[in-house]
Amino acid sequence: MSEPVNVETTGIVTLVGAGPGDPDLLTVGAARALGRADVVLYDNLVCPEILELAPRAEKINVGKLPFGEFTAQRAINALLVREGSLGRNVVRLKGGDPFLFGRGTEEVEALHRAGIPFRVIPGVSSLNGVLGAAGLAVTSRGRNHGFAVFSGAGQTGNDEIRRWAGSPGPVVVFMGVHRAADIAREFIAAGRSPHEPVTVVARGGSPREVIAQTTLAALPELVAEAGDWTPAIIAVGIAREHAFAARNLDGRVAVLDGQPLDSPFADLLRALGARVARPAQSAVPHPLSREAPLPVEKEQP
Ligand SMILES: C[S@@+](CC[C@H](N)C(=O)[O-])C[C@H]1O[C@@H](n2cnc3c(N)ncnc32)[C@H](O)[C@@H]1O
Repeated sequence: MSEPVNVETTGIVTLVGAGPGDPDLLTVGAARALGRADVVLYDNLVCPEILELAPRAEKINVGKLPFGEFTAQRAINALLVREGSLGRNVVRLKGGDPFLFGRGTEEVEALHRAGIPFRVIPGVSSLNGVLGAAGLAVTSRGRNHGFAVFSGAGQTGNDEIRRWAGSPGPVVVFMGVHRAADIAREFIAAGRSPHEPVTVVARGGSPREVIAQTTLAALPELVAEAGDWTPAIIAVGIAREHAFAARNLDGRVAVLDGQPLDSPFADLLRALGARVARPAQSAVPHPLSREAPLPVEKEQP
C-alpha cells in the first residue's frame, strides 16, 4: 500500500489528450480540466488556441527540451512530479491521445512511482480525427474488416515495416514521412501493388492542411521535402471518399474577418468543404493554428 495522500498539499496531475489540433475536437472533460489548471505542460503539437482555455494557468512548453528525446522525456517526467508535489492542479496536455504514440505510459509510471495522484482524459487521436475529417474512412462495411497502424519513427526497423505491410487491410503510418522510401520499398517487397492508393494528410484540421493522393511507388517522391509535410499521416490502401472531394468548396480556405469561427455560417462553409480560418496574426503561425496561411510570395522572373 502506498502512503495516504494529503489533498491539501498534494496536487493532481491530469494527462489530457488535446486532439489533433482543431479546438473543436477537444473533449468536454479536457476543456474543464484546462479551466481549472494552475499549470499546463504542453507539447509542440498542441494548437495554441487550446491553451486559451486555461486563462489562469502558468504554461510551460515541454516540446523542445535539449539533450535528445530520452533525456527530454525524463525531464518532462521530473517536471510533472515536481509540479504535482507542489500541490498544484497540473494538466499535462498532449497532442491527440496520450496513449497512442504519446509516451503517456512513461509519464503515469513516473507519477505512480512518486506517489502523485493522476488521472487520464483520453483525446481524439489524429488516427480518427485527422483521417475522418479529411474524408478517409479507416473501415467501411463490405470493404475491410480491420486495419493496422504503426509508427515509422525511432526503433521501427525495415523488417518490422515489412511485417506491418503483410497485414490484410489498410495500414496507417504515424511519423512516417522521413521513412517514405523504406515504406514504399518494404510494402512492395511484401507483395503489395506499386499502384496501391496512398493518401497523405499533413497538418490535418488546420487551414494549412494538405491532402495528397498518390501510389505506393510514387510516395517517396511526393514527400521528398519531408519538412513540408509535418506533421503528417500516411494511409496506405485508403483513398479519400468521393463525397468529400465533390463538395463545392473542397480544399478552399475561407478567411472570416471579424466573425467567429464557431458560427452557423462558419459551419455551412465547413459543410461545403472549406477550411475556415481567421486572418493571419503572426509571421510564422503555429502549423496547427486556425490562422489563415500567408500568401506565398512569387519569385520575380
Ligand atoms: C508523437 S505522435 C503523437 C500522436 C498523438 N498522440 C495522436 O494520438 O494523434 C505525432 C504524430 O502524429 C501524427 N499527427 C498528429 N497530429 C497531426 C495532424 N494534425 N495532422 C497530421 N498528422 C498528425 C503525425 O504522424 C505526427 O508525426
